[in-house]
Amino acid sequence: MTAVRRVPTQPIEGQKPGTSGLRKKTRVFMTPGYLENYAEATLQAVGVKGATLILGGDGRFFNDKAAQILLKMAAAHGAARVVVGRGALLSTPAASALIRARRAQGGFIMSASHNPGGLDADFGLKFNMANGGPAPESVTDAIFALTKKLSEYLILEAPDVDLARLGESRLGEMVVEVVDPVECWRETVAPLFDFEAIRALFASGFQMRFDAMHAVTGPYAKAILEGDLGAPAGTVINGEPSPDFGGGHPDPNPVWAKPLMDEMYGPAAPDFGAASDGDGDRNMIVGRSCYVSPSDSLAVLAANAPLAPGYAEGLAGVARSMPTSRAADRVAAARGMNFFETPTGWKFFGNLLDAGKVTLCGEESAGTGSDHVREKDGLWAVLLWLNILAARRQSVAEILQAHWREFGRDYYTRHDYEALDSAFAEGLMNDLCAALPSLPGKSFAGLAVEKADEFAYRDPVDGSLTERQGIRIYFAGDARAVLRLSGTGTEGATLRIYLERFEPDPARHAQDPQEALADLAAAVEALTHLRASSGREGPDVRT
Ligand code: G1P
Ligand code: ZN
Repeated sequence: MTAVRRVPTQPIEGQKPGTSGLRKKTRVFMTPGYLENYAEATLQAVGVKGATLILGGDGRFFNDKAAQILLKMAAAHGAARVVVGRGALLSTPAASALIRARRAQGGFIMSASHNPGGLDADFGLKFNMANGGPAPESVTDAIFALTKKLSEYLILEAPDVDLARLGESRLGEMVVEVVDPVECWRETVAPLFDFEAIRALFASGFQMRFDAMHAVTGPYAKAILEGDLGAPAGTVINGEPSPDFGGGHPDPNPVWAKPLMDEMYGPAAPDFGAASDGDGDRNMIVGRSCYVSPSDSLAVLAANAPLAPGYAEGLAGVARSMPTSRAADRVAAARGMNFFETPTGWKFFGNLLDAGKVTLCGEESAGTGSDHVREKDGLWAVLLWLNILAARRQSVAEILQAHWREFGRDYYTRHDYEALDSAFAEGLMNDLCAALPSLPGKSFAGLAVEKADEFAYRDPVDGSLTERQGIRIYFAGDARAVLRLSGTGTEGATLRIYLERFEPDPARHAQDPQEALADLAAAVEALTHLRASSGREGPDVRT
């Protein structure tokens, strides 16, 4: 028997979605009524009567239970069909691909991305729209407003659905369709690349290591790399998704993917290394003794994408988030493409992609993607790199150095100060904002400020204005520092400081970025007194 139950609740404060939906501690999400309140607000805000929805997640702790709750609530709200990845698994780009391929009205993605998983770690929930991309601010604002005033939620009383078996079943009136999590994504990306050439590359003895970090991309990487492309077994490591990501931090950067970095810089390094994050939208690219920063990766992909069949006709344009280095700008200018600088977060790329203004997008935080879906796509970026390596038959280091010779090098690093006291961090940003007009002409630790502003973005497609997106300080010598507060942290405030400097002279391209940017870091400290006033000795993470 199934019946819709109306469960009375207290309104919940603090369910404000950030750049990627709602992220909280797992225990908070598991509090009775908490997930339900946010889901109710979402279902009401988007309206799902008669709709087809997509559902899946990165397999972290609580993924399975949350999926059952979301299915029963979708049924109670009159959804006609929910397409679920087997085992309630879907990478974020695969969910985006499925929404588009099935012309669904939208989908729930259960993930806290690269944050650790487990009972004492993080969980998250995000709703993507019919274009496959994250809900725009108008929708997330409506969801947030509802979360604060709901007094009940609707849920179907029914036994759990078996999500381990492919095929259709019913939940009340609603059809639940369990699909292979890899298939639709594979059909979406395969035509973009020259699989023949990549197969030949592997057949020639080219070696690769892909670290799935115990997260969702294991099954995808095995199917494509070791299956379709003929890479030897063992190319994919940590390929079984686990609820706590093997106790690790599924964030593909040199800090959290250290074992892969050690291998790539060791004596028996393979030709190519890559990793992706919890939900599969981020990527790390590393050659033999050669880490490629995400900002450089975007620029190299933009310059070389036409080597892949899906981009053979050239790119309409490229967009990057504001704190991402200006390397991609130079490629766009040289190749006469559109170029856009957007606020942090993938949702700002959606309108540009939908309008055909850009083909490629990327963020310094290891997100790269194209118009094939409306999310960043880690494995897609890896495949595009493989296609370029197969076409050029050069090493990663050779490709990167040639790129710098042609376009110049943008030295880049990001320094994160985590779990700062929120009031302290906000105070620091407010003080800095107030001081912006007085900065030009002043020098800090010997570096003169030329220009300083707070970034605001007018969307060129819908005209909407997004303000207060971070502080940009331009120094003499083509250097730039950006400061902004993270929108995805779950503890206190995280202050991100992004440092970069353009170096056109190839004779000076071999420096370590931390050394090349040490004077800029000192200038930011002289300007903000962050270390002095927070008592920190330095950033928690440098990437
Ligand atoms: C971080 C990244 C940002 C990315 C977001 C979601 O957000 O910096 O580029 O879009 O995660 O993956 P932040 O914590 O900086 O707000
Ligand atoms: Zn992610």
